[in-house]
Amino acid sequence: VTMRTTLTVDLGERSYPICIGAGILPGLGARVGEIDCGPRSAVVTDPNVAALYGSSVMSSLEDARLAPTVIELPEGEEHKDLQSVAFLYDRFLDARLERRCPVIALGGGVVGDVAGFAAATFLRGVPFIQVPTTLLAQVDSSVGGKTGVNHPAGKNLIGAFYQPRLVWADVRTLRTLPRRQVLAGVAEIIKYAVILSPDLFDLLEREMDRVLALDDDLLTGIVRLCCELKAMVVSKDERESGYRSILNFGHTVGHAIEKLTDYREYLHGEAIAIGMVLAARLSSVRGHCTQEVEDRVTRLIRQAGLPVEIPAELVGQHLALAIGSDKKVSADRVRFVCVEEIGRTCFDNLTGEEILRYVEEICR
Ligand SMILES: NC(=O)c1ccc[n+]([C@@H]2O[C@H](COP(=O)([O-])OP(=O)(O)OC[C@H]3O[C@@H](n4cnc5c(N)ncnc54)[C@H](O)[C@@H]3O)[C@@H](O)[C@H]2O)c1
Repeated sequence: VTMRTTLTVDLGERSYPICIGAGILPGLGARVGEIDCGPRSAVVTDPNVAALYGSSVMSSLEDARLAPTVIELPEGEEHKDLQSVAFLYDRFLDARLERRCPVIALGGGVVGDVAGFAAATFLRGVPFIQVPTTLLAQVDSSVGGKTGVNHPAGKNLIGAFYQPRLVWADVRTLRTLPRRQVLAGVAEIIKYAVILSPDLFDLLEREMDRVLALDDDLLTGIVRLCCELKAMVVSKDERESGYRSILNFGHTVGHAIEKLTDYREYLHGEAIAIGMVLAARLSSVRGHCTQEVEDRVTRLIRQAGLPVEIPAELVGQHLALAIGSDKKVSADRVRFVCVEEIGRTCFDNLTGEEILRYVEEICR
């Protein structure tokens, strides 16, 4: 038995459905067939995901007469670059893709971001479909329309806003995901709960064990709720002018930690977990929230098995610089996202120096 739920991201004529369920992967071809597209298609994936899910996806697209070509990008963030995009253009041409032929991203956020950017720019835009197979991609990167690649000078410096025509998320694919990657996705789920949803927060406090055991129904519901929450934020502020930046809760310090460790030591979600603990602490020190709110946030992150402490060797002037050079900075002040209540945020304008002072105080 497969269960499935659908929500619509409301963006006028660019609205699109997100289908979430357990065991829905073999139904992909039939659903893509309902979109006015074809006669050929390209499936962009990586070797890990291809080995696990490539044949199921390919045969479902073949059955739907979408003549798929599979294209494997090398695995990993270091291949999220323009060279991979150029490689995809060449393969798209080899496969004789035309204006109406869909590009289907099968994999995590790396595959989704690269394939999405290639789809946005090939022939000035071909239909794009996301089939996210990591928890992070299911709750975060496949919603919102950001696509792009890294540049040697920094992450995600090149990109475009480009909405998919369909997102097809099978939570059962998460069963093969390495544990660390699951937890990194849970960090993003906790973020949504803290900034937007007391109900989700309560649910996570009660059911963390079942979440970590990848319970089908629970995950389907949680992924759906996170997509709804992100879609709601994004539809209010599609191009990230202001409101959308609440999604950066935990990211100011999180990004700095990632940068200082050369993106090697921590997965993004792990760095964000530490960043959220510090953001909650800073919120309570600055009088935006009570000690109890701070404690609940920290406890939940710990309960998930995520890191909560910033390594002592990272605290210092270079952390302030890393925070100060974050791209979400306006002038020399950082618009720091604070928590007021579980489910409610506010902004606090701080300099990198001030943030550093708090971090040092907190770590003492
Ligand atoms: N576009 C956005 O809005 C947005 C938002 C957040 C993050 N991102 C981007 O997402 C990327 C991170 O994505 P990610 O965390 O999914 O990493 P990833 O795409 O590198 O995937 C992580 C690892 O899991 C493997 N994998 C994927 N699915 C699997 C499965 N079902 N079973 C077993 N292994 C599987 C992959 O091969 C890879 O080794 C970053 O580049 C980040 O910038 C984009």
